[in-house]
Amino acid sequence: MIGKKLKHMAVAVLATMGVCVSYASTPAAARNEKSVVAKDSVLASRFEAGNGTFLLEGKPFVVKAAELHYPRIPREYWDNRIKLCKALGMNTICLYTFWNAHEPEPDKFDFTGQNDLREFVKLCQANDMKVILRPGPYVCAEWEMGGLPWWLLKKKDIRLREQDPYFMERVDKFQKAVADQVGDLTIGNGGPIIMVQVENEYGSYGTDKEYVGEIRDMLRKNFGDVTLFQCDWSSNFLNNGLDDLIWTMNFGTGANIDQQFEKLKEVRPESPLMCSEFWSGWFDKWGANHETRPAADMIAGIDEMLSKGISFSLYMTHGGTNWGHWAGANSPGFAPDVTSYDYDAPISESGQTTPKYWELRKTLAKYMDGEKQARVPATIKSMSVPTISFTEYAPIFDNLPAPRSEENIHTMEEFDQGFGSILYRTTLPEIKTQALLTVNEPHDFAQIFLNGKYIGKLDRRNGEKEITLPACKEGSRLDIFVEAMGRINFGRAIKDFKGITDNVTLTEMRNNHKFVCDLKDWQVFNIEDELETYTSMKYEPLDDKAKVDGRYPRGVYRAKFNLKKTGDTFLNFETWGKGLVYVNGHPMGRIWEIGPQQTLFMPGCWLKKGENEILVFDILGPREAKSEGLKEPIIDKLLVKKPLLHRNEGENLDLSGETPQLVSSFAGGNGWQSAKLDKPVNGRYLCIEAVDALDGGDIASVAEFYVLNDKGERLSREPWTVTYADSEDIANGNHSADKIFDLQESTYWSSVPGVKFPHSIVIDLGGSHNISGIEYLPRMESDVPGGISRYRIYVKDTPFKK
Ligand code: GLA
Repeated sequence: MIGKKLKHMAVAVLATMGVCVSYASTPAAARNEKSVVAKDSVLASRFEAGNGTFLLEGKPFVVKAAELHYPRIPREYWDNRIKLCKALGMNTICLYTFWNAHEPEPDKFDFTGQNDLREFVKLCQANDMKVILRPGPYVCAEWEMGGLPWWLLKKKDIRLREQDPYFMERVDKFQKAVADQVGDLTIGNGGPIIMVQVENEYGSYGTDKEYVGEIRDMLRKNFGDVTLFQCDWSSNFLNNGLDDLIWTMNFGTGANIDQQFEKLKEVRPESPLMCSEFWSGWFDKWGANHETRPAADMIAGIDEMLSKGISFSLYMTHGGTNWGHWAGANSPGFAPDVTSYDYDAPISESGQTTPKYWELRKTLAKYMDGEKQARVPATIKSMSVPTISFTEYAPIFDNLPAPRSEENIHTMEEFDQGFGSILYRTTLPEIKTQALLTVNEPHDFAQIFLNGKYIGKLDRRNGEKEITLPACKEGSRLDIFVEAMGRINFGRAIKDFKGITDNVTLTEMRNNHKFVCDLKDWQVFNIEDELETYTSMKYEPLDDKAKVDGRYPRGVYRAKFNLKKTGDTFLNFETWGKGLVYVNGHPMGRIWEIGPQQTLFMPGCWLKKGENEILVFDILGPREAKSEGLKEPIIDKLLVKKPLLHRNEGENLDLSGETPQLVSSFAGGNGWQSAKLDKPVNGRYLCIEAVDALDGGDIASVAEFYVLNDKGERLSREPWTVTYADSEDIANGNHSADKIFDLQESTYWSSVPGVKFPHSIVIDLGGSHNISGIEYLPRMESDVPGGISRYRIYVKDTPFKK
């Protein structure tokens, strides 16, 4: 810890050098540790923005940061992963802190084990790496609720990421807790932390400089004069850019780098340039193709940035794993993320060096400024484990906790439950022939049972809310078993309640009259996702006769297996349904037969020589109750019945007889373009018909698309669905038509190579609007692949003929 006298000296020196200083007391880490400050480091330890470059100890410094998330990596492997980054030629580790992992309950902070932020930061320093700290409060990161704790939702009307007094009070407490851990590890104090980030990409959430300013003030108070910065997209960073902060840009591999910094250079010609998230790959969602990004694009981008002295953080350099229930979900719509956070990064999920790693190392070797690249540490070898047979199980319906009685439906959060499943049970009136059950809304995967018999499922990913119930006697038992997946981590939809969020109705036709009744008087069973929930169940021997329709019952399965040696492995769950896995008490993550992920990474450091125990809670029931350890992961095996395309067999959009409301053409180049309709028009369905491409090729592509109302404002894209797309390239990546409104500028719709123009997409806007114009963002690459030239826009209140 810095001595009081030394600190004052530092302030005085910095002040005379004209550096903006606003010191508050540096928070003390309340532990008995040796000082991290070298006696003579007070003058030397400075990191700041100079003219067109960062300065470390007064000398130009290019930040070459590797993004790593400590809770996503087994603690035992932290040092190995940091060394792998160092050996690449990186000089900094960039990290998020995940508030919900650190404060599982209000005021109960956890900075131990996997959550030991301080230890991780010190390990970076021990490996001679600087640190960029990104303490949120919101982080996005494909992490449950973008890092915000679920318990915030117990205040139902809370305004997240706004100046809601309760939200701000909780943020302040969390930020103080973070500063108590690492506030004394800033560079000014002799530690490795050179920069601290204020909020995260606020521009893709809203415009609110006051809120962002309040977060800045908290960090300023906690971290003294450390360099504070904001990260955003080149298209929106000015919306929330605060004058006294450094502005950095986020963009993916392949992007036109000069264009990404064009605006920044214009408004702040002297700013150092930094890409604070250069996306090496991308994340995977259940039921969608495994994402990859070409190594060549990543290498070209890094090479270009370094040749121009541009700093960067490679997101992710090593992604790791979304253990337990920590994977988030994307929005608009609901697209839950898989357990693996491999990210197609240079270092794989299990810490293996990939071809991307070696190519990147070669490129970074050119920019070592005379220093030698560190040796690449040995990676941990993987092993196979022979078949593990599950011999015991606890059927979930025989192992329910004590219920609570409630007249009305309540969300999980209202029952003080954060994660897991919830069963809503009631009795029905007589159903004469059949009735429609409407669940408003099932978050996220509901299974419906009538008198214990399975009727069907409602999958939030597909917007399913209704199911037909057959005739039944009065007093029949209705069970709605809802499994929660990760809370949405992006956009306004992060306020994502679980369970059933509103009500359940039954609609029946009698004598041509519609009877709708709101079902009441529920028994509610809260099945919290905690190890104890599963270990306290009553297990019985597994019997083949228990199989119904090829599946064993829904429930928890237990197996013991012996190992002579330990090592990393990939547990195969290809024969299982959907659920959660624990090994030796470690929450390993979610599984789902639809893929693309079929195996779970099992770090050897969590296995034991001798007996190991594995528990699987399968809410669908396994087809075979067995597993095995593989040497290689299976993360790209997609098994979905519903095609990923937005065009049914035999469908052909028929625009004959339709009159376009806009006939125009887009200009070349990157960046947003807009166009006005000839006059505002009312409609619910909008068709974009691309007539030809700027490059004369056959591909049409769109990164993002907005529709403007009669005031020229962007319509919310939350309720949008694609009802038709003539051609979608899902073979070469996730380039389906819904990518044009997924809020992510780096992902895009692309038609299939070889399919001829015109290319069309029809969007159902979810309701009728008075439409005055459109905004279009082509792909980010400098050659704008698939850039549209001539196009027509049609708007109608009724669906288009197809
Ligand atoms: C944004 C966020 C990150 C992460 C990436 C996508 O840039 O800031 O946290 O979600 O997108 O992986």
